[in-house]
Amino acid sequence: MYIVFLGAPGAGKGTQAAKIANELGLAHIATGDLFRQAIEVGNDLGKKVKKYMVKGVLVPDEITVGLIMERLAVLAQTRVIFDGFPRNLEQAKALDGALKKQNKAIDQVVYIKVAEDELVQRLSKRWICRNCQTPYGPHTPPRVSNQCDRCGGRLYQRPDDQPETVRKRLKVYFSETAPLIEYYRQQGKLLEVDGSGRVDSVANNIISALGERQFIAQ
Ligand code: AP5
Repeated sequence: MYIVFLGAPGAGKGTQAAKIANELGLAHIATGDLFRQAIEVGNDLGKKVKKYMVKGVLVPDEITVGLIMERLAVLAQTRVIFDGFPRNLEQAKALDGALKKQNKAIDQVVYIKVAEDELVQRLSKRWICRNCQTPYGPHTPPRVSNQCDRCGGRLYQRPDDQPETVRKRLKVYFSETAPLIEYYRQQGKLLEVDGSGRVDSVANNIISALGERQFIAQ
């Protein structure tokens, strides 16, 4: 089972993907998290992607698609949530092609919808764990101030959550990523979910929608 979580920056893709992957026992592959971890350790990948991420533009496809293909080749799990990938039509087609070679395909695409002012609000107040990337915010605070509930790591504000970079990321989302909504709708794979409620209720809506389409047991 291969599920893509799609939505604008701040829609809650990371929050929901981590929660649902944990509840349903799926692998969670988040390109943004992989890139930030590479920047943290300062390896070659981190050095290559940093300049794109700080500007709020997409990392070139050859780097991103290469990274995902490497992951898929060694992943024993065949129940996966992709979060933040694919991000444009080229990436979507590359993923379809790679899965097809293994007689597999994307099963469902969960499109999390949130109004633009709410996205900007959320990103301005987001803190994430430097170690495991778990996001926190006013509605999802850590139990201990400045400390990750999951791993005890320190929290920080992403440099690309500065207002000017957020505006750029939203622009990039609408021009490059939003066309994927139609791409997957035409394939009959799009599940639209209102992402504006509480975290638990959004998660329940996603799980019931996947259950209704019989991708998971209810
Ligand atoms: P990436 O890390 O993927 O960022 P993004 O898509 O911009 O998404 P975000 O992580 O900002 O938001 P989210 O939807 O995960 O929301 P979250 O759950 O954190 O990408 C960063 C950069 O990496 C890109 O700009 C690009 O440079 C590069 N990159 C990544 N993937 C790439 C690719 N495939 N190709 C090329 N380049 C790529 O939630 C946000 C906040 O809201 C949190 O504080 C959270 O606690 C809170 N929140 C969540 N749900 C709720 C709720 N229901 N109610 C209230 N608050 C909530």
